[in-house]
Amino acid sequence: MMTLVGLAGSLRQQSYNAALLRAAAELAPPGVQVEIGSIRGIPLYDGDVEEAGIPAEVTALKERIAQADGLLVVTPEYNHSLPGVLKNALDWLTRPPSDIPRVFHHRPVALMGASVGRGGTALAQAAWLPVLRGLRMRPFFGARLELSEAHRVFDAQGHLVDEEQRRRVSEFVAAFADFVRTGSPPLVSSAS
Ligand code: FNR
Repeated sequence: MMTLVGLAGSLRQQSYNAALLRAAAELAPPGVQVEIGSIRGIPLYDGDVEEAGIPAEVTALKERIAQADGLLVVTPEYNHSLPGVLKNALDWLTRPPSDIPRVFHHRPVALMGASVGRGGTALAQAAWLPVLRGLRMRPFFGARLELSEAHRVFDAQGHLVDEEQRRRVSEFVAAFADFVRTGSPPLVSSAS
C-alpha cells in the first residue's frame, strides 16, 4: 500500500481545501491511501518555544511525513501567495534542521488547491516552489489541480459533487501515485 500524507492549509471548519483533501482521499486509486494530516494545534513558530521542546503535534506530523511515500499539499491562496498558517506549520516541520534530510529530501510532493476566485490558487502554488526546492523535495509537475470557484462544486457538507472536478481529482491523485512509484508520470492532458 502506498501512503501519501495530505495537509490542507486552512483551519476553517468549512474549508474548501480540507474538503478537496477529503475528496483526494476518497478518489485515490486502489493501493493508494491518502492519510489526512492536520496542522491544527501547531503554535506560531517561536525560537524560545523550540528551545523548551518541539511541540508534540509537530513531532507527530513529522514522523508521519517521514514514513510516507509522498506529501500532498492542499494550499489556499491568500493575497496572491501562500497562506501563513500552512507556512508556519511547514517551518516548524523543518526543526531541527538536522531532520530535514530524513523528512524532506527527495520526498515526492504534489500541490493542489481550491479558491473561491477564478485563479484556483495558481499563485499560491507557484509561491510554494522555492520552499519545496529549498527542502530538496521532488515536486510532481505531471498534472495541475487549481480548483477555482470552489463554492460552485462542493455541497453544504463539503462533498465534491461536480463530476468533472471529481474526475480531475481522481486523475491527479493517480498520476501523482504513478510519479511516486516510477519517477516519471504520464502527462494528464485534461488536467490543465
Ligand atoms: C482570500 N481569498 C483569496 N482567493 C484567491 O483566489 N486569491 C487570493 O489572493 C485570495 N486572498 C485571500 C486573502 C485572505 C486573507 C483570505 C481570508 C481569503 C479567498 C479564499 O480563496 C477563500 O477564502 C477560500 O475559501 C480559503 O480557503 P479555505 O479556507 O476554504 O480552504
